[in-house]
Amino acid sequence: MSRIVYVNGEYLPEAEAKISVFDRGFLMADAVYEVTSIINGKMLDFAGHAARLARSLGEIDMKQPCTIAELEAIHREMIARNDLSEGLIYLQVTRGVADRDFAFPDVEPSMVLFTQAKNVLNAPLAETGMKVISIPDIRWGRRDIKTVQLLAPSLGKMAAKAAGADDAWLVEDGFVTEGTSNNAYIVTQEGTIVTRDLSHDILSGITREAVLRFAAEAQIKVEERPFTIDEAKAAKEAFVTSATTFVGPVVAIDGIEIGDGKVGATARRLREIYLAESLKSAI
Ligand code: PDD
Repeated sequence: MSRIVYVNGEYLPEAEAKISVFDRGFLMADAVYEVTSIINGKMLDFAGHAARLARSLGEIDMKQPCTIAELEAIHREMIARNDLSEGLIYLQVTRGVADRDFAFPDVEPSMVLFTQAKNVLNAPLAETGMKVISIPDIRWGRRDIKTVQLLAPSLGKMAAKAAGADDAWLVEDGFVTEGTSNNAYIVTQEGTIVTRDLSHDILSGITREAVLRFAAEAQIKVEERPFTIDEAKAAKEAFVTSATTFVGPVVAIDGIEIGDGKVGATARRLREIYLAESLKSAI
């Protein structure tokens, strides 16, 4: 079945959808995006994703394409038109179409949405845990803005695959920033969750915010500070969070098993709590 995608106010079969070759998202990666998970036809953490989109747009002085209420209505329409039960909705806003120029043009933004059916609930890596490698973080200096400049993380993912791993953790000045497309965490031998503090260096994950809140509610100690790969290798557990992996256990880093090399109890528990609570508030 061909998907129905959204392009600038129209719902179209994917083969008929078109974006100009002069679109700055295509030419200059002058665009931001969001990914929202769908379970049972409902959106998880929609309010958080909409708020972060507004922030990303503001940080690069791009116009808001519509109100949050309109955005929600478009997401709902996409779920309905694609009969989407489980998977994700991808949303991208670009600065718009203009002759190529480094200066920002004063044009209307382009907005595109599409759906991807995906088994997010029972993903195999949630059961087995994932293996990561560490590589230098070569991305730009404003990773707090969710832009579509994803070549560096794609290269990281390919390096991981070439090494027989599932993903890469990015390291800058000796400290882990985040994963290629997720936030990174360790659990110390004392049971404290450690994850890098928010700054321009990492994306403020919507899942991160929820998981840290649930961890605090479950009386698990949390420290927001940088940690090294050596500290991670000596940790009891490691895991990642993102809208599509929720809480994803990490069982090896650079070929070194973490803890007993199996999915950790904290990651398992947080995944269960995150899913139970997020499904309750899904809209
Ligand atoms: N990625 N850090 C980076 C670099 C990311 O790309 C993502 C999300 C996250 C986690 O953010 P959130 O919890 O809001 O999904 C952290 C999405 C899923 C993607 O690019 O597909």
